[in-house]
Amino acid sequence: MKLINSETFKYFKKSYRLSLKWDSYFLVYDQIFKKYKKKKIKFVEIGVANGGSLFIWRKLFGKNAKIIGIDANPYSKKLSKYGFKIYTGDQSDPEFWKKFFKKEGKIDVILDDGGHKNLQQISTVHYTLPYIKNGGMIVVEDMATSYLKKEFYNPSKYSFVNFCNKIIEFINYRSGLVQKTMNTYSKKVYSIEFFDSIAVLNIDSTKCFKSKSVSNNVSDPALNEMRNSFHFKKTREIIKKKIPFLRHFKFYNKIERKLFYRNSFLNLKENLIIKRILKSIH
Ligand SMILES: C[S@@+](CC[C@H](N)C(=O)[O-])C[C@H]1O[C@@H](n2cnc3c(N)ncnc32)[C@H](O)[C@@H]1O
Repeated sequence: MKLINSETFKYFKKSYRLSLKWDSYFLVYDQIFKKYKKKKIKFVEIGVANGGSLFIWRKLFGKNAKIIGIDANPYSKKLSKYGFKIYTGDQSDPEFWKKFFKKEGKIDVILDDGGHKNLQQISTVHYTLPYIKNGGMIVVEDMATSYLKKEFYNPSKYSFVNFCNKIIEFINYRSGLVQKTMNTYSKKVYSIEFFDSIAVLNIDSTKCFKSKSVSNNVSDPALNEMRNSFHFKKTREIIKKKIPFLRHFKFYNKIERKLFYRNSFLNLKENLIIKRILKSIH
């Protein structure tokens, strides 16, 4: 079994209380949480239910970590007796988060295993982002609900997966190629990773800056950009053979560039090929 070497799966199996997770998650936890092992971090899980997962985190991060649970169900408060700090609240309520961060200050990791609805997942990201330390992360589980109709009303423009697409855009606002002003997401979300039903937002404002093109100034000849050079290759060769004198005229070179290199028909042709590639994926 693939999970035989998974540390978090081992702790899950040995947890004192009931925990419900998808089996693919444990390899992800092993990978993304490795850097926090035995560190003095503040780890927050939204949605703790019976508390089974809290024991996984205690074991993985060690006694120096502060493990905090949040649940809409006041039942979870009972888990305080095991040394966890438990809050009762609604993850989509901005007032709840204001009070929470006033008490707890900045945190390292937030893991969302709460209600899994679009607004709940988006609220987790939106309201906690300003309070995640550099080097920290926001992990959202069960993002496959973005594809579920019953109860989750997806697919929708407002699904979590589409929100992630927006974040990808905001990350790309940092590119010097893109004429966009960086927003709070561009300035804090360094990268985003996707696994089976899990999104991981890696937070680090020190790595988020508007990029610019740089050169190491070695004097080599400037080479032609070849991105369109394979199109109409045959046609160009025929023209070259049959009417070779044309190449001596400046206007012809201009027209050639327009026709064979920067032609919007080229784009249409490429889109058709892309469409075919997408269709061929089974
Ligand atoms: C899937 S269970 C959590 C399972 C737990 N993490 C485990 O591993 O066993 C989801 C929990 O999210 C809580 N929940 C649902 N909606 C919530 C909301 N809006 N805010 C906070 N918690 C919520 C539920 O009460 C439930 O206990």
